[in-house]
This record gives sequence, structure tokens and C-alpha cells, in this order.
Amino acid sequence: MFPKTTVMLVIIFIFQTTRLPSPVSGSDPDPIQDYCLPSHHNTHQCKNSSSLTVDDFIFSGIKHPGNFTNKFSGVPVSAAVFPALNTLGMSLVRADFEVGGINVPHYHPRATEVAYVLEGKVYSGFVDTNNKVFARVIEKGDVMVFPRGVLHFQMNVGDSPAAILGSFDSQNPGSVKLPVALFGSGINDELLEKAFGLKSKEISKLKKRFGIGHED
Ligand SMILES: *[C@@H]1O[C@H](CO)[C@@H](O)[C@H](O)[C@H]1NC(C)=O
Ligand SMILES: *[C@@H]1O[C@H](CO)[C@@H](O)[C@H](O)[C@H]1NC(C)=O
Repeated sequence: MFPKTTVMLVIIFIFQTTRLPSPVSGSDPDPIQDYCLPSHHNTHQCKNSSSLTVDDFIFSGIKHPGNFTNKFSGVPVSAAVFPALNTLGMSLVRADFEVGGINVPHYHPRATEVAYVLEGKVYSGFVDTNNKVFARVIEKGDVMVFPRGVLHFQMNVGDSPAAILGSFDSQNPGSVKLPVALFGSGINDELLEKAFGLKSKEISKLKKRFGIGHED
């Protein structure tokens, strides 16, 4: 018989070389077929490829900026709007900034983002888990990476519109925008007052700004 440690090492070796999906992995799973556009009737089933055409694999919704709110527009190209991305583990976003426009501090719980500046000058950065800020102005042609789940932000500091194309290693990266997650979600006022050292009136004002509650 083999000694116990040899058996263990062989098992570990087999486990690592077969690269079983780790239960703690946060990545989208690897695809097990070429593509899988969800069927209308049952989204867990793929459409029969005989019903697909090349147009199913083309998305034309980010040729132009999206609708602006407060000088910013973000158009996600996730599997929800471009079903051909389903199971493929990646997606895009087009972000446009009018002069002075900002992309508020936010994070993507399920994806790292690689952002490419199409146009303009953008103060761009992230804060790591030690609260160290990595930020500076990037411009047309520059690429910046925002690690998965890490808080990041952008602001157009040029004197003309700016645009960024972000790509994600998830078909559904998700986006948690801090201002609205904190003040537009209905968290208990007392907790927010204590967390931010603000008075009840100030919290009400912030909540009002994000569409919750009433000003007194
Ligand atoms: C897909 O559609 C074709 C043509 O209608 C049919 O022959 C084939 O059996 C279908 N495949 C599956 C998996 O349903
Ligand atoms: C912009 O707003 C219009 C009107 O509400 C809407 O039809 C359109 O889909 C929006 N565009 C985007 C990219 O969200």
C-alpha cells in the first residue's frame, strides 16, 4: 500500500490539474457550448441555433451616447440587453460625460473593469481596501483597470465631452452606486446619522436628493 501522504498528494495533484471549479470562485463559469441565447419561454434553455442569424450576435445600441442625467450617461451592454453574451463571461459599458460630469463612486461586485478612454480627459481612480487612492487624469487612448469589487469613480476634467468604453469579465457585473445605495435605499435614519455624524435634517436632505422621504 502507498503511504497516506502520497495518496493525498496524488489527489491534490489530480484536483489541481483537472481545474475543477472552486466553490469560492467569483468568476462567471466557463461556457460548455459555443453560445446560448436564452429561449423566450424558458430562460434556462438555449434557443435552437437554426433560428439564429448573425444579427443575434451584433448589438448596435452604443453607437451614440445614451440619455444623460446630471451630465453623465452610462449604457451597459450586459447579457440582459445583448442576450448573445449569455454564458460568455464578459460585457461592456459605454460611459459619456458632459464637461464636469461625474460617474459617482461605485463598484461592480462581479467583475474587474478595464476602461479605455475614447475621448477627453477624465480624472479616474479607485480606492483599495486599505483606503489608498489610486487616481489621476487619463486621456484619449489610456486604459485603466478597476479590480473587481473595488470602489471607483470618474470625472470629466477637460473642456469638451469625454467618453469611455469599459469591459467586464462578467456577463452581468452589477453596479452598486454608493450615494443611492446609502441614501436612496431606505436604510434606517438613526444608523445613517451615527455612521456619518450627521443630523436628522441633513440625512433627510440627502434622502430627498435620492428620491426617498420628505423635506421638513
Ligand atoms: C433545432 O431545429 C431543427 C430545425 O427545426 C431541428 O431539426 C432540430 O432537431 C432542433 N434541435 C433541437 C436540439 O431542438
Ligand atoms: C433614452 O430615453 C428614451 C426615452 O425615454 C428611451 O426610449 C431610450 O431607450 C433611452 N435610451 C437608452 C440608451 O437608454
